[in-house]
Amino acid sequence: MIEPVNEQTNAFNAWAHNMQMRVEDVLNTHLPPSNTSPMRLHEAMRYATLGGGKRVRALLAYAAGEFCGAGLNKIDVPAAAVEIIHAFSLVHDDLPCMDNDDLRRGKPTTHKQYGDALALLVGDALQSLAFQLISQDKQLKSATQKLQMLHILALASGSRGMAGGQAIDIESIGIPLSRAELEHMHIQKTGALIRAGALLGAYSADKPKDDKIKAVDHFAKSIGLAFQVVDDILDAEANTQALGKTAGKDQLHNKSTYVTILGLSAAKQLASELHANAMAALSFYGREADLLRHLANFIIHRSF
Ligand code: IPE
Ligand code: IPE
Ligand code: MG
Ligand code: MG
Ligand code: MG
Repeated sequence: MIEPVNEQTNAFNAWAHNMQMRVEDVLNTHLPPSNTSPMRLHEAMRYATLGGGKRVRALLAYAAGEFCGAGLNKIDVPAAAVEIIHAFSLVHDDLPCMDNDDLRRGKPTTHKQYGDALALLVGDALQSLAFQLISQDKQLKSATQKLQMLHILALASGSRGMAGGQAIDIESIGIPLSRAELEHMHIQKTGALIRAGALLGAYSADKPKDDKIKAVDHFAKSIGLAFQVVDDILDAEANTQALGKTAGKDQLHNKSTYVTILGLSAAKQLASELHANAMAALSFYGREADLLRHLANFIIHRSF
């Protein structure tokens, strides 16, 4: 029997809530305790990572992992690792030398709370921690599987992934990018880590099928780019309270975004085309791909 749409959405919302709590627990367990030395650094790492965020990258890991047949226990550390890299990227993104933001996840940014120098170190330490956790995870039995995951995460975070995209973002302030350059920047700065979240989930399965890995990859590439397009739209349309971060900063800072370059309506059109591409990547599959489909809907229709 096919369930009515609102029942499916309720079931997905309940699943997402459970997985958000689950990854919060994993993060809480694996972040160094704030009563161990260096206490202020550990406290700030926990401040930057715990108690906020939509956890979209972890949700993608859990959804892609289940799609490929992985048990939840195997997905826990890879899901936490990608959220840790993401938290690091946000701490650095908010620094005065980058976007100079005071508000993140509804509270003062890490550098506002702990100072610029410690915020820099929080990013450094979180980045190392993500790789450390995968390397020592007892749930992942084979060294080959761990190496593959470390490789995925390293590529997605480095100069051809998040850090590279951030460099283009900063260099393009006040210099309008072409459509192709804009796409390249978005794919790197945000798409890469979203894609990594989904792939880490997929590779958490002991023997993921090739066709499923390909479908996850194709899906995640489209939805990863869509994620930053929607972020650009929300920056222009939503308010600070709903976002938990300062709205309207892209235009203020002369950033190249889909909204500042193409306008709101073309940006919305692109988001829905990318959503359709992501869905098409799953068209061969039945109910086993529903979590990924619901996540794609959430990413496109979110209000924060
Ligand atoms: C914000 O990411 C920064 C981007 C890469 C667009 P999220 O919107 O996923 O932030 P949180 O984790 O939910 O706070
Ligand atoms: C950030 O993009 C992408 C990262 C790699 C962190 P933004 O600068 O648009 O993210 P927000 O809007 O501050 O969350
Ligand atoms: Mg930025
Ligand atoms: Mg920013
Ligand atoms: Mg933004």
